[in-house]
Amino acid sequence: MNKHIVLLPGDGIGKEIMESAKQVLDAVAGEYGHRFTLQEHAIGGSAIDQYDTPLPEATIAASQEADAILLGAVGGEKWDAMPSEKRPEKGLLGIRKALGLFANLRPVKGFPSLLHASPLKEHIIDGSDILIIRELTGGLYFGRPSERRDNGREVVDTLHYRRDEMERIIDKAFQSARLRHNHLTSVDKANVLESSRMWREIVNEKSHEYPDVTVDHMLVDAAAMKLITQPNQFDVMVTENMFGDILSDEASVLTGSLGMLPSASVRSDGIGLYEPVHGSAPDIAGKGLANPLGMILSVALMLRHSFRMETEAAAVERAVRECLDQGYVTSDLNISAGEMVGTEQMTAAVVENLTVKSVSDSICSM
Ligand code: NAD
Ligand code: IPM
Ligand code: MN
Repeated sequence: MNKHIVLLPGDGIGKEIMESAKQVLDAVAGEYGHRFTLQEHAIGGSAIDQYDTPLPEATIAASQEADAILLGAVGGEKWDAMPSEKRPEKGLLGIRKALGLFANLRPVKGFPSLLHASPLKEHIIDGSDILIIRELTGGLYFGRPSERRDNGREVVDTLHYRRDEMERIIDKAFQSARLRHNHLTSVDKANVLESSRMWREIVNEKSHEYPDVTVDHMLVDAAAMKLITQPNQFDVMVTENMFGDILSDEASVLTGSLGMLPSASVRSDGIGLYEPVHGSAPDIAGKGLANPLGMILSVALMLRHSFRMETEAAAVERAVRECLDQGYVTSDLNISAGEMVGTEQMTAAVVENLTVKSVSDSICSM
């Protein structure tokens, strides 16, 4: 198959892990006879430096034409004092909005060899397998007004949702639950927020359309606690934009590191932007230390969801698991045993497993 992929490396470790993604795509193309054309565009702080905007028109236009988009990460201290419209993060929010990517899927499933990399007790996290579905183009992130007033003595951010914005993400969550274990936990703050009360009403209404899915409602503060004390009780979690942002970083602790989590930001027609959950990690940027696995697992999500290449996606995930089984770890994974490697070596190990495995696959199938 021929696929056209737009790459948005962004800032900090975003650029480093994008190199890993390219190598993995190269290996997949070689092993399975695909052709991936890769086209890089600017976003975030590096776009501000080059084009004076975090989201150049050319980046949006190219992304609209692509079969899928891969994004590294944006942000860094250099741009932290910029006015809000010129922050790197606005580039990321802008591309999600421009492409209508309202559903952010964040699977949280640890690898067996990393069970002891988590600070949580093994018996608590063992078997946990959660899909967090985060609404991505509404809520506090996009509310108007969002401004300082009264000479800086007052500030307002607006939490705004339209009913249809809630309905489509909640539908997506029910549909995803059907593909998994038919259990949906809706997370809100309905004891305080009107928006959450409407959210809960919609979940209850929709539950009649999906009688085979068991639904729980949970307040977000309790959900934050249950996520790390009883993670096994969750299957699919669905929540609004900011709650989902916070809960997914917290959930990464189940897997051993934020650097492990991939994500897919999609809309109804399957077009998607794939990005690791973590940020540009200014504290380790430029040192070659970044864990590339969240990014590599995002490539797997792209292969599966945008290109329907299930075999290839599974092969990438298997190659990652094998690297970890072989004892390769990056410094964010708190494991004393094993071989501590940097971004490049971890990537090379994934590529090695990917190519060795597919050679033995083809020998077996002869
Ligand atoms: P961060 O996710 O960049 O880093 C948090 C911590 O996790 C740091 O200690 C970092 O070193 C570590 N970490 C993250 N990813 C890692 C990886 N792959 N390998 C090893 N360690 C990793 O969050 P932050 O420090 O709060 O934010 C830094 C910048 O990133 C900010 O400008 C923020 O806005 C931005 N950010 C961007 C995205 C994105 O582009 N998707 C996501 C989150 C934060
Ligand atoms: C994420 C990030 C972004 C978000 C920031 C950088 C705008 O934290 O993708 O999780 O909050 O959505
Ligand atoms: Mn986040």
